Order: sequence, then C-alpha cells, then structure tokens
Amino acid sequence: MTQRVYSTRRRVLVTGGAGFIGSHLCERLLDDGCDVLCVDNFFTGTKDNIAHLVGRPHFELMRHDVTFPLYVEVDEIYNLACPAAPIHYQYDPVQTTKTSVHGAINVLGLAKRVKAKILQASTSEVYGDPQVHPQPEAYWGHVNPIGLRACYDEGKRCAETLFFDYYRQHKLRIKVARIFNTYGPRMHPNDGRVVSNFVVQALKGEPLSVYGDGGQTRSFCYVDDLVEGLVRLMASPDDFTGPVNMGNPVEFTILELAQKVVELTGSKSKIERKPLPSDDPKQRQPDIALAQEKLGWTPKIALAEGLPKTIDYFRQGRPEGQTPSVHR
Ligand SMILES: NC(=O)c1ccc[n+]([C@@H]2O[C@H](COP(=O)([O-])OP(=O)(O)OC[C@H]3O[C@@H](n4cnc5c(N)ncnc54)[C@H](O)[C@@H]3O)[C@@H](O)[C@H]2O)c1
Repeated sequence: MTQRVYSTRRRVLVTGGAGFIGSHLCERLLDDGCDVLCVDNFFTGTKDNIAHLVGRPHFELMRHDVTFPLYVEVDEIYNLACPAAPIHYQYDPVQTTKTSVHGAINVLGLAKRVKAKILQASTSEVYGDPQVHPQPEAYWGHVNPIGLRACYDEGKRCAETLFFDYYRQHKLRIKVARIFNTYGPRMHPNDGRVVSNFVVQALKGEPLSVYGDGGQTRSFCYVDDLVEGLVRLMASPDDFTGPVNMGNPVEFTILELAQKVVELTGSKSKIERKPLPSDDPKQRQPDIALAQEKLGWTPKIALAEGLPKTIDYFRQGRPEGQTPSVHR
C-alpha cells in the first residue's frame, strides 16, 4: 500500500455513492472528516444526488462500473453499487447479477491489494420469502433461485459468500450489513417501491396502489438511522464481521402506511387494490438484537418524523433530469 505523507484523513471509497443511500453516506463521511471517493456508473444514481458535495475539497467523483476492476488507494470501502428496486434490477437482470458478483470480486480484490477494510451493503432479500419471523441473521432464508427476483437475491447471497471466503482465505477485514427497507429524501420517485409510490401518488391526487389485501407488513428505516448503523459497523472491532441486520423493527401493514401517507400529505387520494406480484414477501421485519448488542445501534427516527421529510423532498420535485437512466 502506498504510504501517505501529507494527510492522515481516512480515504473512503463508496461504490454506488451517487445513489439514494450512497449520497447520504458520502455526506456523513465528509462531515466526519474523511476523504471520500464516490464511484458510480449513474445507472440509477444521479449527479444531482451529490451535486451539493461536488466542490468540497475532500470529495471526489469517478464514473466507473464496478463490474470492471478499479485501482485506487483507499483505507475503507463501502460497497453499495447495485440497483435496489425491482423495476431497476429486473430491467437488465444479467447486469444485476454481474454488478453484485463481479462487483464484489473487484472490490474485494482491491481491498486485498491495499489492505482496506470493506463493508458490503447486503439486503433482507437474502431471506427471500421468510418462513421465520422476525428474521435473525442465523436464518438461511427461503429464496426462489429461478424467479424474477433471483438476479438480485442470489447475486447478493453470492456476494456474501465471496466476502466470507475472502475473510477466511485471505484474512480480509470484512463487514456485512443486511439492510431492510430504507426510505428518505433522494429515493427515486418512480422506482415502484412502496414509500415512494404512495407519496408520489398521494401528491398527484392519484389512487394509492395497494397490492393484495394490504395486510402484508414492512418495516421502514429512515436513511439517517441506516447511515449511522453502517458507520458504526465499519468502526466495529475486526472480529465482528456480521452479517448484521439493519432496519427499523417497528412493523406497519401496507394499508396502514397508505393511510398515513394520505393523512400527512392531506391528499384526497383513494386506496386502490391490485393483484399481488409473484414472490412478494408477506412479512418483513428485522431482528436487530445483534446490532443493538454489538454496535449499540437502534433506529431513532420514527415514521411520523421521517415520512414528512420524505414527502417534503418529493413535494419540491426532483431537479430536472433526475429520472433514473434505466434506458442507458
Ligand atoms: N434502499 C433500500 O431499502 C435497500 C435495502 C436493502 C439493501 N439496499 C442496498 O443498498 C445499496 C444502495 O441502495 P439504494 O437504495 O441507495 O439504491 P440506488 O439505486 O439509489 O443506489 C445504487 C447505486 O449504485 C449505482 N450502480 C448500479 N450498478 C452499478 C455498477 N455496475 N457500477 C457502479 N455503480 C453502480 C447506481 O447508479 C446507484 O447510484 C444497494 O446495494 C442495495 O442493494 C438498499
């Protein structure tokens, strides 16, 4: 690893740094005094998400696709690059698997070369349609390997496998976070995910689409809470690798969420039932006991606080040209 002569700032690489979570993470790391390298191919992320960071002396932006190797000198790597919403990851499923698997191989190879600590943004989707509720980290999941979600779910599972094999075989310092539904400003307005869907529909006065009977549950973590968890995980002792669940354990039914959005936006929208898509999980709630014990982390921002901030973001409208470039 190249010796640094002038700066003692931690040099941190964030792949997928121009995305929803990545942009908040870059901001937090800069505020913490890190030197941040944001790498993104702008598939679903946008320059507008990080426009306010460009010009800060310790922020650097690089257009790069993680399916190709990257040679940079860094101390820590947060690997977030991967489309996260079904309409985005199903647009080019082969590329999605490549992003998770080839991307993991490339960033792990980089971490090995420069002896960096590396964190993987994994997902609750590794549990598939769970038969255990809530899901502890020890649960191996219930995933359909050939379904429409498999490119994402199995890609992320394989990335976890690679992280743990690099840990065992090459003694890399790894961290694996299994992220549950996260929401907040800079989510994509048209990503088909439940929070953004409802908010956008309510603001337009359109009916809110509830799939099935709306009795399926989800838990929603505000992005600032999640970023705090990721930073704490990266700073945790080397013998703590995870996987560790990160999410807000407070459960809401989809119907309750729809009603809350209508109430907070003051919309006249009605609720409209639609057929349940295939492989849609019925329940999703994190068991965060491990994160509480090892990281002293518990989400603090309730839906009643985070939802209005998200609604404000959508009310102001995304800057021109911020529609995800799914037709690249
Ligand atoms: N948002 C959630 O609720 C959630 C839940 C579980 C896991 N995650 C994980 O967190 C990470 C960030 O998710 P997000 O919600 O911010 O999604 P996002 O789509 O906003 O961000 C992903 C970023 O990765 C970039 N990207 C995609 N493919 C790339 C490639 N091949 N090379 C370089 N950059 C690439 C995109 O352009 C985008 O900026 C993802 O890995 C996702 O799987 C998110």
